[in-house]
Amino acid sequence: MSEETFDLIVIGAGPGGYVAAIRAAQLGMKVAVVEKRDSLGGVCLNEGCIPSKALLDSSELFALARDKFSGHGIVIDPPQLDLAKMLARKDDVVKKLTDGIAFLFKKNKVAWVKGAARLAGKEGEKHRIEIRGAGNEVNQELKASKILLATGSAAVEIPSVPFDGETVVSAREALSFDRVPEHLVVIGAGYIGLELGSVWSRLGAQVTVVEMLAKPLPNTDGQVADALVRSLKKQGMKFLLETKVTGLEKKDGKAVVPVESGGTTERIECDRVLVAVGRKPLIDGLGLEEAGVKLDQSGRISVNENFETGVPGIHAIGDLIPGPMLAHKAMEEGVVFAERLHGEGSAVEYDFLPGICYTWPEAASVGKTEEQLKGEGIPYKAGKFTFMANGRAKCMDETEGFVKILAHAETGRMLGMHILGARASDLIAEGVTAMTYGGTAQDVAMTFHAHPTLAEAVKEAALDVDKRAIHS
Ligand code: NAI
Repeated sequence: MSEETFDLIVIGAGPGGYVAAIRAAQLGMKVAVVEKRDSLGGVCLNEGCIPSKALLDSSELFALARDKFSGHGIVIDPPQLDLAKMLARKDDVVKKLTDGIAFLFKKNKVAWVKGAARLAGKEGEKHRIEIRGAGNEVNQELKASKILLATGSAAVEIPSVPFDGETVVSAREALSFDRVPEHLVVIGAGYIGLELGSVWSRLGAQVTVVEMLAKPLPNTDGQVADALVRSLKKQGMKFLLETKVTGLEKKDGKAVVPVESGGTTERIECDRVLVAVGRKPLIDGLGLEEAGVKLDQSGRISVNENFETGVPGIHAIGDLIPGPMLAHKAMEEGVVFAERLHGEGSAVEYDFLPGICYTWPEAASVGKTEEQLKGEGIPYKAGKFTFMANGRAKCMDETEGFVKILAHAETGRMLGMHILGARASDLIAEGVTAMTYGGTAQDVAMTFHAHPTLAEAVKEAALDVDKRAIHS
């Protein structure tokens, strides 16, 4: 059995783990990454962020061709869907990006060890890791003084609606349906539910979203969430809010989902059910308990500012530790973890962590929502600008939505930025930068924004904080 010693062993090659490994290698450490999948990139690249965005982009083009081209004076026959080709393109995007990480590992001399890792005690000052291969036999042991746990998360199952991989599925399978469902019931109006619901709705499925809360996207600014639901309804999606799923019946490859709202029960017939009610840390088989690594009450691993667990030398980042389960959070934690290990004073700016729902229009947020500011009694002023009054949005025929900026009533410091609209995912970056550097709404209002661009709506919203907007 081979046995090798490293400075750092990273368990899990998702966005947190692979980024931490590359940064640590850049800083001169000898690094190994243990990954049980055949490709690098974790859930994000293989079955999450990337394939879902590839399908969102493809399905958006399909919907544009079908619904919007004629408005631009482009006359085509109704577009035909070649789903197999769309899925193959998505797989190709995934392959290129996961291969790209393998290239980066080679370039940075990060060793990629294939297999499932388990903490296996200590040998002197070093932690031992056992690696199991496909046959579940331990075929390798590695040692390092520092271990980084970055194994990510898995979809939560509803006990009364268990996954079967065919009719009742998680996001993984919903990225590869071999035909457009006739009726897709989505349980959970979070990021996954709205994004994948949008994909299949655009491609022709009837989509019903069942959400137990009164609003989708909990923690999103209320105006943004309300406007997004209105827009998705216009696109044909049906929403059953404040509604509970009470079970599931299956018959001949079809499903009946009984739902209950305000004492009334309804039975929804469908051919696929996507359960998207959150994710949970993936810790089974890591040997955490034997190693003495403690979990908090919500089942996440408790860490200090160096991302170190209660066990010296064992660290954790990403979906395993508290906070939103977002790839860019894990990536930033990976970088900061490696730099702090190297003695630098880097820190993650959690207050300015953006959240984006890649529907169309997109919903993007950073900082506090208006509801939070009210709840915390922070005095604020709001500026808002609608894309209807933005020249570029008119040219694009993408006039839905708005930019909203919340600034401190006395200092003008930006406290939140919330966008619903075309390319909100890119536009939010300006708010993240401004807020990270303590910028005021006036700082944003004073800077050039090229004309005509969607970004001008950000400038106008910043001007509107002091009621100085020009175009509204
Ligand atoms: P989520 O936490 O975003 O949303 C889950 C939704 O399901 C919530 O609205 C919740 O109220 C609802 N829900 C929970 N139990 C329910 C039940 N029994 N019946 C009906 N509704 C119920 O979780 P989601 O969408 O599964 O995403 C998982 C994680 O992945 C999230 O933490 C998210 O941050 C991340 N993600 C992020 C994306 C992005 O940044 N664009 C895209 C996809 C996932």
